[in-house]
Amino acid sequence: MFFTAMAVISIITGHSHSLKAASSLGKDTLTMITSPDYPPYEFYETQGSDRQIVGFDIDIAKTIAQELGFKLKVMESDFNGLIPALQANRADFVMAGMTPTPERQKNVDFSIIYYEAKDTIVAPKTSSLKQPQDLAGKKVGVQLGTIQEQNAQKIAQKVPGIGLKQLNKVPELIQEIKSGRIDAAIVEDTVARGFAQANPELEFNVIPSESVSGSAIAFPQGSSLVKPFNQVLQQMQEQGKLEKLATKWFSQNTATNTVSSPSAKDGLNLDFTRIIPDIPFILKGIPLTLLFTLLSVFLGLIWGTVLSLCKIIGIKPLTWVANAYTSVFRGTPLLLQLALVYYATPQLTGYQISALEAGVLTFTLNSGAYMSETIRGGIQAVDKGQSEAAMSMGVPYWLMMRDIILPQALKNILPALVNETIGLLKDSALVSTIGVVEILRSAQIVGANKYIYFEPLLFAGLIYYVLVMGLTFSASVLERRLRQGE
Ligand code: ARG
Repeated sequence: MFFTAMAVISIITGHSHSLKAASSLGKDTLTMITSPDYPPYEFYETQGSDRQIVGFDIDIAKTIAQELGFKLKVMESDFNGLIPALQANRADFVMAGMTPTPERQKNVDFSIIYYEAKDTIVAPKTSSLKQPQDLAGKKVGVQLGTIQEQNAQKIAQKVPGIGLKQLNKVPELIQEIKSGRIDAAIVEDTVARGFAQANPELEFNVIPSESVSGSAIAFPQGSSLVKPFNQVLQQMQEQGKLEKLATKWFSQNTATNTVSSPSAKDGLNLDFTRIIPDIPFILKGIPLTLLFTLLSVFLGLIWGTVLSLCKIIGIKPLTWVANAYTSVFRGTPLLLQLALVYYATPQLTGYQISALEAGVLTFTLNSGAYMSETIRGGIQAVDKGQSEAAMSMGVPYWLMMRDIILPQALKNILPALVNETIGLLKDSALVSTIGVVEILRSAQIVGANKYIYFEPLLFAGLIYYVLVMGLTFSASVLERRLRQGE
């Protein structure tokens, strides 16, 4: 009824109905978040230096957004970060071939199911691991946070000796099978098919069980979008649009590239020509990585200086706070701090911190802690006589610091600062975990697309190395200049 009405109105008024639907929500763009490691549901398609998330889910999302009069923005994260993203109100909905499970339903709302799939066992053809019983004593890979993980756990309760390995992305599972580190993986049939086609040495067998994993759209709890989304889904179903899209994506091999890569037995035969078309895309990560590193170093240096002054100024509470701060930030993993800042900031402060901002903030806070110690050492190494002289001449403390002590300290600790910068440059790869497409992430995207692993990673490694060399060189030039100035 709703749609007939909408259709009639839209015939009369052209597109204006959509605008109304959109403006009633107070915005014109819907943000979807997905985990694009899942062809043909969602995966990256690269063309030259451009990349785009495409797939079955994306087509459905586009149709729904269009019907409701919204623009669509697609963001990405690892699968296990999708529900947290909804809870932090980072996105309006998730489409990621996600199955409504009771546990998930406690945290998010789901649409009706728009597609059903079955779990399969993916393994090398030669291993004849076809049924759950065959997995006894084997290492089995699953994607972290998925129902395949839960299903594998259930199988492991019945079949003895199964060792589970949880990885973040499906292509990593395939790679692990090929390199023989796991014996099999549990993957949905539609996804398994694409990977098996791209890797002829692999096969997949459906796990016979009555439970199918349906895919549904997830929303933040209480979202007003559930109803209109369901209506469009229903309409798409009735008009056969869903089936058309399913045939489009599931009946052919949608992988952009079907060349098989070498199995473990063939040894490592690298073929860099396969990534040549993607090189511009990987290179595009460089400016972002550099910007990120320089910003973090600069801000970290300022923050580190403040902290180090707190430590030596001789005011007990300040010293105490600065020391406690340093011990916390040096005593916990950077990756953990990054995830906390990224996921907790919106909930704690209401501010929608972007991945890049979260990265710079975390790295500044973290490197400030390390630098504060370096700078403190540098300050204390400056001859005591100088500060005594300055004080006896009546130079105020902070002027003395700024004009006399700090410049000398900085010169002395330059090598240590270069070390810190190099560390930050390489650690910047960590922001790939919260979805910033820097060098490492671009390389992973290319790998996932082409079902290859080593070549893009080696290439990314080369880029990092060249950047670090460049940095080392400029630092030694700078140091020489400073020494000449003495
Ligand atoms: N259907 C499974 C689940 O809900 C797996 C989905 C994985 N999706 C992805 N984009 N990697 O747990």
